[in-house]
Amino acid sequence: MKVLIIGGGGREHAIAWKISQSPLVSKLYAAPGNAGIARVAECVGLSADDAVGLLAFAEERGIDLTVVGPETPLVAGIVDLFSARGLGIFGFGRAGARLEGSKVWAKEFMRRHGIPTAGFTVYDDAGAALASIERAAPPFVMKADGLAAGKGVIIAKTHEEAREAVSLVMLKKEFGAAGNRLVVEEFLEGPEVSILSVFDGSTYRLFAPSQDHKRALDGDRGPNTGGMGAYAPVPALSPDMLERIRGAIIEPTFAGMRSDGIAGAGVLYFGLMLAADGPKVLEYNCRFGDPETQAVLPLFDGDLCETIRAATRGELDRAAFATSSLAAACVVVASGGYPGPYRAGLEIAGLDEAERRGCVVFHAGTAFRDGAIVTSGGRVLGVTAVAPDLGAAIGQAYRGVEAITFEGAFSRGDIGARALAGNGRKEKA
Ligand code: GLY
Repeated sequence: MKVLIIGGGGREHAIAWKISQSPLVSKLYAAPGNAGIARVAECVGLSADDAVGLLAFAEERGIDLTVVGPETPLVAGIVDLFSARGLGIFGFGRAGARLEGSKVWAKEFMRRHGIPTAGFTVYDDAGAALASIERAAPPFVMKADGLAAGKGVIIAKTHEEAREAVSLVMLKKEFGAAGNRLVVEEFLEGPEVSILSVFDGSTYRLFAPSQDHKRALDGDRGPNTGGMGAYAPVPALSPDMLERIRGAIIEPTFAGMRSDGIAGAGVLYFGLMLAADGPKVLEYNCRFGDPETQAVLPLFDGDLCETIRAATRGELDRAAFATSSLAAACVVVASGGYPGPYRAGLEIAGLDEAERRGCVVFHAGTAFRDGAIVTSGGRVLGVTAVAPDLGAAIGQAYRGVEAITFEGAFSRGDIGARALAGNGRKEKA
């Protein structure tokens, strides 16, 4: 099979790395890919958002299966476009992707289908939002309705912060039209868990549960990022709790998608909070998580290409699906200054040594320059290790991180530390 992966971050490197191991694959392309993905796929100079260019490429090269990594092309409807032309593609259509593309729509979906989530109010007018905030007690969770590259969720701990959030999102339009509507939610506390699932429109399977670390600095301090590391599985999630989540959240979600006529084949990411009064959905994403995927896919004991192909055919029930009993940790190495401004084009050393130390180095923001691998993004690498237990995986991942150098490189030093301490609790991001 000829397979095309759309995207060029760490998640797409992990997907490409896993798919490249499949005997079903005769040729693997990635658009645009990156310097790490280039080791397993031919990178094509097309943006993930260039749906027309990607369609032409897939038709010209006879691509059998396209796998979409990021949310933006999914929300924009790339799956509908490819499907209308009879091309095989994996990911939700525009209707299913609304679960991520509109926070308002997702919250109303949950309310309609009785899926537990934080209480919420939707505002399409800044004045009304400001007036009602004054009448309530902080903290508030404030979410721009549309896609905002992971920056559209603001935790306001005071009335002043809440007023600033309304102004930023609805008046200054920091996130453009994504801020035309604002969701204000009740603040929840508890350990967070990300559960990635694959769905074929009727059957679903779950990958190992994982936990992300969204803040830039140790101890869940500093600004929110795209994710500074992840581990899987999550000790805080007991088998009983997973069963409860299946019954209260996962199955009602897929049943709701079916009854709303928005079911298709894709990855649904359940961002969950294990609150004291039971698990609740914080968010849905219509794709693999980043960096969760870099911890989760190395634990997937199966042929990802076969799984995805089966999902696109509605035959997931016939595909083998197994998760190893090992543990994985992924530590992100970022550019100095991230998530604020940072320099790019800095030469990276130590990649081979990190692999000799037993790690898989997933590239997130890298490029080639004059034969060298250089930085090209805020999150540069995700260094993953797999070991019999989480402590060993974390230790091995950090030994890999220590081998890697570029000017200004930084990582969090506490990925998975709270899980090891027997407490998966972390501040809600
Ligand atoms: N790790 C969070 C996300 O993928 O949205």
